[in-house]
Amino acid sequence: MNTKNIKALKGQRPIVATTAYDAVLAKLADQSGIDLLLVGDSVGTTQLGFDSTVQVTLEMMLHHTAAVTRINPKALVVADMPFGYSFDDYETIFNASRRLIQEGGASAVKIEGGLKLAPTIQRLVDSGIPVLGHIGLMPQQIKILGGYRKFGKTEVEKKSLIEDARALEAAGCFGIIGEMIEAELTRKLTETINIPLIGIGSGSHCDGQILVSNDLLGFSTEKLPSFVQTFGEVSKAVSKGFEDYKKAVLGRNYPSE
Ligand code: KIV
Repeated sequence: MNTKNIKALKGQRPIVATTAYDAVLAKLADQSGIDLLLVGDSVGTTQLGFDSTVQVTLEMMLHHTAAVTRINPKALVVADMPFGYSFDDYETIFNASRRLIQEGGASAVKIEGGLKLAPTIQRLVDSGIPVLGHIGLMPQQIKILGGYRKFGKTEVEKKSLIEDARALEAAGCFGIIGEMIEAELTRKLTETINIPLIGIGSGSHCDGQILVSNDLLGFSTEKLPSFVQTFGEVSKAVSKGFEDYKKAVLGRNYPSE
């Protein structure tokens, strides 16, 4: 998969995307034919024990992106731009993107932000760095927002989300993640732009869906967002494996003679 293939899927079939943070999970997702693997900064909450994505650094993103790309996935690998870079000066964001691609092996970067970031994104795209946009709920804003909520309920928010999506398309994004956007607005956004809108918690009218892999696999000890459907019971299987191992060792059934 490359960014061109992903773009071409709009209007053809839904894009199937998930997150990956390590080689094992990336390989299993890739073998299952997932189109796009996002090395999300959700690595902070799903793997690293932080309470938000804000604590995730560029070095952490490089470490996890390299683990995912080392298995040479067929899926498009996109690395998240960590907190604090997007509104820094252009050289800083360019260098972070360059490192995620050159050292991490990512094929593209994802950047949270809309209209205000469009000029920066346009410069990145002009330098050969493919960018996936991210609008609606932007988890890196959590300290300002104070909590997670739906976006696009008011007329003001609707207007600004449409402006954001149009600006990101004009800046050259090959796609946009729309997180926690009202379903009716998502329908309008999908019809308005000519690049794919990949939704998370934004209803069914998107050009594709992305879910955090730990959530969709049922591999989490945390409460899941209300929009998540689990398609596996990995936590249960893992707990059972550990319990059976403990029993076997305590009962001297492992190792055998
Ligand atoms: O970091 C992440 O996993 C994301 C998804 C929620 C889209 O940004």
